[in-house]
Amino acid sequence: KVSPVILCGGSGTRLWPLSRSGFPKQFLVLSGTTSLFQQAVERINAITSHDITLDETLVVTNEEHRFLALDQLRELKTVNATLLLEPIARNTAPALTLAALRAVEQGDDPILVVTPADQTITDQAAFTTALQQSVRAAADGAIIILGITPTAPETGYGYIKHQGNVKTFGEYSVAQFAEKPDATTAQQYVDSGNYCWNSGMFVLRASTWLNALNQFRPDIAEATQASWQDRSSDAQFIRPAKTAFADIPSESIDYAVMEKCPGSGITINMVPLAAGWNDLGAWDAVWQVGAQDTNGNVMQGDAFQADTTNSLIYASSRLVSAVGVDNLVIVETADAVLVANRSQSQQVKQIVNALEAQG
Ligand code: GDD
Ligand code: MG
Repeated sequence: KVSPVILCGGSGTRLWPLSRSGFPKQFLVLSGTTSLFQQAVERINAITSHDITLDETLVVTNEEHRFLALDQLRELKTVNATLLLEPIARNTAPALTLAALRAVEQGDDPILVVTPADQTITDQAAFTTALQQSVRAAADGAIIILGITPTAPETGYGYIKHQGNVKTFGEYSVAQFAEKPDATTAQQYVDSGNYCWNSGMFVLRASTWLNALNQFRPDIAEATQASWQDRSSDAQFIRPAKTAFADIPSESIDYAVMEKCPGSGITINMVPLAAGWNDLGAWDAVWQVGAQDTNGNVMQGDAFQADTTNSLIYASSRLVSAVGVDNLVIVETADAVLVANRSQSQQVKQIVNALEAQG
């Protein structure tokens, strides 16, 4: 048994003003015709094979976004999904724990294919192959992590140090996992040639996750278990108990477990993923994966330009036009407009922080 787990309860603040707490980036259509969330669901649906049958898709998201997620799932028609709804965000370790607790109750200790919902992939065939290898490699209880060859010393990613020869299913041993290193360390990792970025995708048995969490963070394991115990269900929705959920420490999968696995007795292996992976962290990445015209412009909605180059113009409620500018991000919504230097699009977070501080 294999169950996809889609983690989609994040907020995505660097894609402001389009991404908002009421409508976060994973549910936006940023490239193509479906949302990042829908793309994540469909990508995994395509990995079925003679020896891989998919069981229910577990969507873990915030209570506030249940209808966004449900409507988008219905548009895909074919998906058998259960939505696990968090009353408040407690990051990804508790989210994956809810999915694992649900999966073990369904029997047969399913293999979970865990994916974030904020990325794009251009090569589905390569993705399918890597994920199928990962499912086979996870059957004996190993944690499989999907690694990307790094192209820059990004500080927003996890880094995986791999070593030794390739094993039976195309996996490598993992000697170290370092989440979000500082810039100097990230540069050393990239220069060494021994590190991959963590794609944020993991393949592992439900029991493997629960055992690892029990070993490294029994506090998170117990608190999440308590809130799961007193859950309520309503059609496709399952809700862990609210007050108990609030007591769970907030932590990511990466810090809670992955960093602690190498050398601990829990096997962690990496399968390389070369499938045109892109994490749509900031507007610059949306420009990169977008359909660029011959001047390097990506235009969405009612957008016009003259003499403009290398820019992203995203119009959502009005006509937006640009003349004689280069390297800009212009994002228009009904109540806010962003104009930014494309190379500084990471700093949009500063605007969001300032707005939040203002209340
Ligand atoms: N259900 C739920 N609950 N989902 C969440 C929560 C939560 O509280 N917080 C985040 N998520 C979802 C996000 O929507 C996203 O799809 C995914 O989990 C990853 O969370 P991010 O907040 O985007 O993590 P990150 O980008 O900082 O880092 C992770 O991804 C990188 C690759 O994109 C880490 O796994 C890094 O190691 C990795 O390199
Ligand atoms: Mg992310």
